[in-house]
Amino acid sequence: MTVKLNHTIVHSKDPKAAAEFFAGIFGLPKPKPFGPFLDVEVDNGVTLAFLDAEDMEVQMQHYAFLVSDKEFDAIFGRVKEKGLKYWADPGMRQEGEINRHYGGRGVYFQDPSGHLLEIITKPYGGWGKW
Ligand SMILES: [Fe+2]
Repeated sequence: MTVKLNHTIVHSKDPKAAAEFFAGIFGLPKPKPFGPFLDVEVDNGVTLAFLDAEDMEVQMQHYAFLVSDKEFDAIFGRVKEKGLKYWADPGMRQEGEINRHYGGRGVYFQDPSGHLLEIITKPYGGWGKW
């Protein structure tokens, strides 16, 4: 396969706060400035390039990350430590819960700009019930 997602722009109300939040909560290296962006690279080589949305209204985007059980514990631990709200569903109706889809664990929470971040320990696409 030669088609790989390389980077995406994350429009942010405050890119410094957003990039630092993201790197901190996921336990990733500090954001690196690159032109107008603050870049954070995740472990499969995809860069999230945080950019000031300036006058543009930030539209909520959804970013999902596949993590190990150990990382789930660490990341979710930091979510709870910070007192962030979290949900078991992307519709944000099941507050304070996690899901068990595909025999794994999943949870959603928001970044400082309102983007919906998701961590899952099993990828989507299993058969059978959620
Ligand atoms: Fe998702």
